Amino acid sequence: MRLLITGGAGFIGSNLLQQIFRQDPPEIVVNLDSLTYSGNLKNLSNLESHPNYQFKKVDLRNATDVSKVVNTYAIDHVMHLAAESHVDRSINSPEPFLETNIMGTFNLLEACRQNWKESTGPKRFLHVSTDEVYGSLGPSGLFTEKTPYQPNSPYAASKASSDLVVRSYGRTYGLPVLITHCSNNYGPFQFPEKLIPLVTLKALHGRPIPVYGRGDNIRDWIHVDDHVHALWQVLTEGIPGETYNIGGNQESSNLDLVKTICAILDVKHPSSRPITETNQVLPHESLIEFVADRPGHDFRYAIDNRKIHQTFHWEPTYNLSTGLEQTITWYLEQTDWWQDILDQRYDLKRLGIQD
Ligand code: NAD
Ligand code: DAU
Repeated sequence: MRLLITGGAGFIGSNLLQQIFRQDPPEIVVNLDSLTYSGNLKNLSNLESHPNYQFKKVDLRNATDVSKVVNTYAIDHVMHLAAESHVDRSINSPEPFLETNIMGTFNLLEACRQNWKESTGPKRFLHVSTDEVYGSLGPSGLFTEKTPYQPNSPYAASKASSDLVVRSYGRTYGLPVLITHCSNNYGPFQFPEKLIPLVTLKALHGRPIPVYGRGDNIRDWIHVDDHVHALWQVLTEGIPGETYNIGGNQESSNLDLVKTICAILDVKHPSSRPITETNQVLPHESLIEFVADRPGHDFRYAIDNRKIHQTFHWEPTYNLSTGLEQTITWYLEQTDWWQDILDQRYDLKRLGIQD
């Protein structure tokens, strides 16, 4: 296998690369990433000198550069993760989402279509999408692979659009495409603008913890290791043309989740509990502040895992409480990793963790 991973320097991509190189890695694994604010090569420093690993700093929006990588490395398998991924950013500034997520995906599909025309041997194009394309659930029900698309944010709409272009390349040109729709990931290396690392770092710094609305929105959380394991099974065992939903079966309201993180920190890091003027020590959850809701905020996501379970016997191995303990321990131990982001790589004012 000659594998191209896009977005390998991001959260899920770097966990995927780490898992691939912990096992028996393919002949060549090329990581194509333009290193936006969320891409971080430090996540992959242990792989730099591995003979089977190559990093290419390439922007998916540059069709010529993308095609050159596919051609030069004779790529035959693709796992496409690179994207603008944060919903709040898509609300503030949608354009990069449409450019990278739609046109970037188109450029990659074209590169494969052109380069794969003349070559024989097995090929696969796995497009990593999201459950957000399905829109919002009420208090009951689950997203299946047949749920109609109803994207509500510019991010979700850009992912839905890219899914449709990927599908069309399968139907029209016979490209062996597979699409996955996963629920909310958490785990090591997640950029601290997403809920779980954001809450952890805000709490450690004694900053107000912003909960949108009343915190009653529900997400179905999956540990990133379980997600990347499923992605590998879909790439190697999936049927071209099929789509697969992936979820952790671990639903939580945002408020419950934030309180759980705070309770873990009360035990693991008691020194950051807030202290009042009268020297009273408060639990971390006293930092919770209800703030204006996200526009178009989807109420609930929840995945029906039956297809991927029945097809590959895949199932999540983490429950939310063990996964959160492990993840928060990682953030408590890897202070250099996030301090570097806070110091150099991000607009601190917006994140509101430090002055
Ligand atoms: P991330 O933001 O942490 O990483 C995205 C990576 O893509 C970064 O390394 C970034 O540098 C790179 N990138 C962005 N624009 C690029 C461009 N124009 N050219 C080349 N590289 C570019 O995101 P993530 O959370 O790791 O998500 C990865 C994928 O998984 C995305 O496609 C996302 O839609 C999907 N997904 C994420 C979740 C989740 O909960 N995080 C759940 C389901 C699906
Ligand atoms: O469902 C999969 C999606 O999960 C992925 O496709 C996205 O790439 C990923 O970012 C994630 O999207 P969410 O919008 O669900 O994740 P986020 O961490 O931004 O927010 C999780 C929930 O927490 C959501 O209901 C909004 C809420 N929230 C978020 C932030 C950042 C808050 O209450 N306060 C916050 O400060």
